[in-house]
Amino acid sequence: MIIAVDGPAASGKGTIARALAKHYKLPYLDTGLLYRAVGLSVQRMGLDPEREADAVAASAFDDSLLEDPALRDDETGLLASVVSAHPLVRAALFQRQRRFAAQPGGAVLDGRDIGTVIAPEADAKLFVKATPNIRAQRRHAELQARGSAISKDRVLADIRARDARDSGRSAAPLAMAADAALLDTSFLSIEASVQRAVALVDARVKR
Ligand code: CDP
Ligand code: CDP
Repeated sequence: MIIAVDGPAASGKGTIARALAKHYKLPYLDTGLLYRAVGLSVQRMGLDPEREADAVAASAFDDSLLEDPALRDDETGLLASVVSAHPLVRAALFQRQRRFAAQPGGAVLDGRDIGTVIAPEADAKLFVKATPNIRAQRRHAELQARGSAISKDRVLADIRARDARDSGRSAAPLAMAADAALLDTSFLSIEASVQRAVALVDARVKR
C-alpha cells in the first residue's frame, strides 16, 4: 500500500504521514528533507541557489546532512523552495523517492508532488491544508521551541513566499491530485487530524 500525503508548509502533513506509517506499519519518507538538504548544501558550498547548475551540484549531498539540525531552520525551508523549482534538481532526487515508494509492502511519503509525480499510482492520496495564519502560528511555536527568536510575522511572510513559489513553479507545482482526499486541519487537534486521515485512507483502500 502506498500512501501519498501532500500539502503546504506546516499544514500538518508530516505529523499525519508519520502517524499513518505507524498505524499501517509502513516505512515513512519526509521528502522535504531532501530538498532542505540541497538548500543547506548550496549555502555551505557558497553556491547560488537561483543557478540551476549550482543547485544540481549541491544535490549530491552527503546523507549525514539529513541529520543536521540546521535542516529545520526557517531559512533552510526558503532555500529549499528556491532549489526545488529547478527541474534538474527534482530529476536528481526522483529515483531515490521513487525507489522508496515502490518498495515491496508499500510506504508513506509526504511532500508536494507525491500524489502527482512521485507515486501517481498511490492507493490513497491526502492533500492536507490549513490557513496561512494557523500554519504560521504552528511553525512559529516549533521554531521558538528550538530556541529561534524569529517573529511570527516573519514566519508568516516566509510561508506565503514559499506557498507562492511552490504553487507557481512549472516543475511539479504544489497541487492537489484529482483523486486526492482533502483534509483541512485548521481547526483539528493532532489526534483529530490523525483519526480523520486514517478514516480517509481506510475508505480509499476499503480494508
Ligand atoms: O515541512 P515544510 O512543509 O515546511 O517544508 P518541507 O516539506 O520540508 O519542504 C521544504 C521545501 O521543499 C518546500 O517549500 C518545497 O519547495 C520543497 N519540496 C518540494 O518541492 N517537493 C517535495 N516533494 C517536498 C518539498
Ligand atoms: O509537515 P508539515 O510542515 O506540513 O507540518 P507538521 O510538521 O506536521 O506540523 C507543523 C506543526 O503543527 C507541528 O508542531 C505539529 O505538531 C502542529 N500541528 C498541530 O498543532 N495541529 C495539527 N492538527 C497538526 C499539526
